[in-house]
Amino acid sequence: MAESSTDPRRQRRWWRLPATRVLAGMTTVAATAAVLVAAPGADAAASTLGAAAAQSGRYFGTAIAASRLSNSAYTTIAAREFNMVTPENEMKPDATEPNQNQFNFSSGDQIYNWAVSHGSRVRGHTLAWHAQQPGWMQNMGGSNLRNAMINHIQKVMAHYQGKLAYWDVVNEAFNEDGSRRQSNLQSTGNDWIEVAFRTARAADPSTKLCYNDYNIDNWSYGKTQGVYRMIQDFKSRGVPIDCVGLQAHFTGGSSVPGNFQTTLSSFAALGVDVALTEVDVTNANTSQYSALTQACMNVARCVGITVWGVRDSDSWRSSESPLLFDGNGNKKAAYTSVLNALNAAGPGPTSTTPTGPTTTPTDTTTPTTTPTNPGGGSCTATLSAGQSWGDRYNLNVSVSGSSSWTVTMNVPSPERISTTWNINATWPSSQVLVATPNGSGNNWGVTIMTNGNWTWPSVSCSTS
Ligand code: G3I
Repeated sequence: MAESSTDPRRQRRWWRLPATRVLAGMTTVAATAAVLVAAPGADAAASTLGAAAAQSGRYFGTAIAASRLSNSAYTTIAAREFNMVTPENEMKPDATEPNQNQFNFSSGDQIYNWAVSHGSRVRGHTLAWHAQQPGWMQNMGGSNLRNAMINHIQKVMAHYQGKLAYWDVVNEAFNEDGSRRQSNLQSTGNDWIEVAFRTARAADPSTKLCYNDYNIDNWSYGKTQGVYRMIQDFKSRGVPIDCVGLQAHFTGGSSVPGNFQTTLSSFAALGVDVALTEVDVTNANTSQYSALTQACMNVARCVGITVWGVRDSDSWRSSESPLLFDGNGNKKAAYTSVLNALNAAGPGPTSTTPTGPTTTPTDTTTPTTTPTNPGGGSCTATLSAGQSWGDRYNLNVSVSGSSSWTVTMNVPSPERISTTWNINATWPSSQVLVATPNGSGNNWGVTIMTNGNWTWPSVSCSTS
């Protein structure tokens, strides 16, 4: 266990130290000082789920339905609390390819655009699944279906190339006993899952590729073991896979098993990220919500938690009132138990060991404009302020001087970049983003979770 105290406000962690102390030694970023802004108390517990999760480098997400984006009560909560979005139905095969080789991204794009305009990343869901196939696909088999699956993955991933943080490449392909589920996809050959992952990697190397399933929470359960063996096999043979999504639907009679953390850490030990991807709990039992959050926080490679809807009234199982907000948008007791567990969390997947301050910078400041970088080549990256929220801000970046540039952005700890757009992004460390063009032009941006520190990052630009 990472914590002994139950009150997160009594715990003092390095990643919540006052920014003036944590920032020590990062004098280069302080050089851009201009206007002092009222930053939230750097030592205070975060007050939203997304901000609380970001303190340990994790996200807290929700499923979003395009049909509800016109409901302001819904979008107000969603924008405030969550920094990862999964389209509930809009990126599934029946939505994106209603007729063979005719693609429709209107609802998926609607959710994507809403998410990134509110500082959230997006988790794609899902590319290959026995359910929610379009009619034309349901009647297919053999090599026709295999080729259709490959084409679907290629075209959908090309549309979202460079934009999504994760993709659920394959969803729910196992039986409860750990054998493969019979489906038209399975009938094309046992290698269909690895073909899907290899196709996905080639289509968009920038996104993390996940296998996603339900009832893989209990370590001793046959289905969990079946999925585990597949991931183990994939890793040993170099089949590209980056993450396992545990849906964690603790509804319909199931509950959080006592060995849940063992399951998460066992998957993670194979060298993949793990995430809880569709959480809901019958009657939003507070101890179960707390336990599942704590289990994730205790596993460094548990990258985040997504609940399957915003309010109880939005849930696919609304009769079980399984979510963190009631139908009127009020926070439920389970909300507080989750928030406290997030605030008490130890370092997460992208955290680094602090070396401790050596000097004290003057203050935490935000410039109204940041001058261009002095850069290593004949290009210049200029930062400008985008929208900001209580816990995060957008920065727009404009690159001039060259169309084949590499921009390196250093983010002062404990800030974290939670979203990028219009770039190919790589991450040498949790605090460093290396951006290169992805074909969207020279204007791009990032969302930065402040964690109490509003100092802008430093950037440098070089050409290749
Ligand atoms: O949009 C139509 C509407 O026009 C029509 O009047 C109505 C009549 O039934 O149906 C509406 O579509 C429904 C759709 O949700 C949108 O609400 C479908 O019938 C219904 O089947 C569909 O259910 C979705 C379910 O996946 C289908 O498998 C749920 O919203 C969605 O929450 C659920 O999500 C899945 C994950 O993708 C995978 N894991 C399990 C999870 C829960 O089943």
